[in-house]
Amino acid sequence: MRVIKTIASLRAELTEWRARADHIAFVPTMGNLHAGHLKLVDEAKSRAQRVVVSIFVNPLQFNDQNDFRSYPSTFTEDSDKLVQNNVDIVFFPEVGEIYSHGTEHHTTITVPDISDILCGAHRPGHFTGVATVVNKLFNIVQPDIALFGEKDYQQLLVIRRMVSDLALPVEIVGIPTVREQDGLALSSRNSYLTADERQHAPRLYQALMHAKARIEQGARDFHSLENDALMGLQQGGFRPEYVSVCRADNLAPAGPEDTDLVILAAAWLGKARLIDNVRVALPPVAQDRV
Ligand code: PAJ
Repeated sequence: MRVIKTIASLRAELTEWRARADHIAFVPTMGNLHAGHLKLVDEAKSRAQRVVVSIFVNPLQFNDQNDFRSYPSTFTEDSDKLVQNNVDIVFFPEVGEIYSHGTEHHTTITVPDISDILCGAHRPGHFTGVATVVNKLFNIVQPDIALFGEKDYQQLLVIRRMVSDLALPVEIVGIPTVREQDGLALSSRNSYLTADERQHAPRLYQALMHAKARIEQGARDFHSLENDALMGLQQGGFRPEYVSVCRADNLAPAGPEDTDLVILAAAWLGKARLIDNVRVALPPVAQDRV
């Protein structure tokens, strides 16, 4: 595996692959790799001849600079894992390589509407930072396919929308969330949890699964479902930001006739901001009920 730090040397390497018509898969990450990231790598490997992983903690997507500075950096362990997973290239640029004029003076990409709701409402500018860096990484790597986790469901839709709006020549593949045995979604931020908080953390997923079960049993008052879940989380020691039942295709609030839903939540537990979501696929509404 080659570790490449500059855009110029990455481009030189990729030109050779392209001359051989190799199919290239790309997995963008911020490092501190866990089994969720490695699932993306694994899928990438099964879908393309060449796999490029980027490790770049993107300052532009952190609305809280303390969060950026304390983001765990574990490059040695990460690169060991990527070697074991047969990655061809890890792109590991410095901030100045990506933002040569500084983050304040960089051209940005904003995907409208969907960037402003849910996590976007609580983290202003976050999705502009994500879309901008992903767009730039796509331009650098020019992959045939790129893989993203459904764990960050809103991020996945923001990227899909950017790719569609800007006609970017890349196929976006979403990969289901990898979880701990007790249901907690794997996340770099789980390391911020104390042992006690870690024990309670699966309650976020449980709250989503409970709401899902109620919808499957026929509940259609999504507002009261959301409120019940918020209260349950509060009583369980979380500081929830939102629980929202949405249409899975565009994250608009779900209506009683919608059948393809996603329930999303973000909640603080101690110093960790946890996010999670579950999909709900309902049978089509019978005509006589419409
Ligand atoms: P990061 O949080 O490092 O995540 C990198 C990729 O791994 C994302 O596509 C994310 O959805 C996926 N991922 C994280 N946890 C997962 C889990 N438990 N199961 C499956 N996939 C999981 O997301 C980012 O970095 C950044 O915003 C990035 C896209 C790299 C842009 O900077």
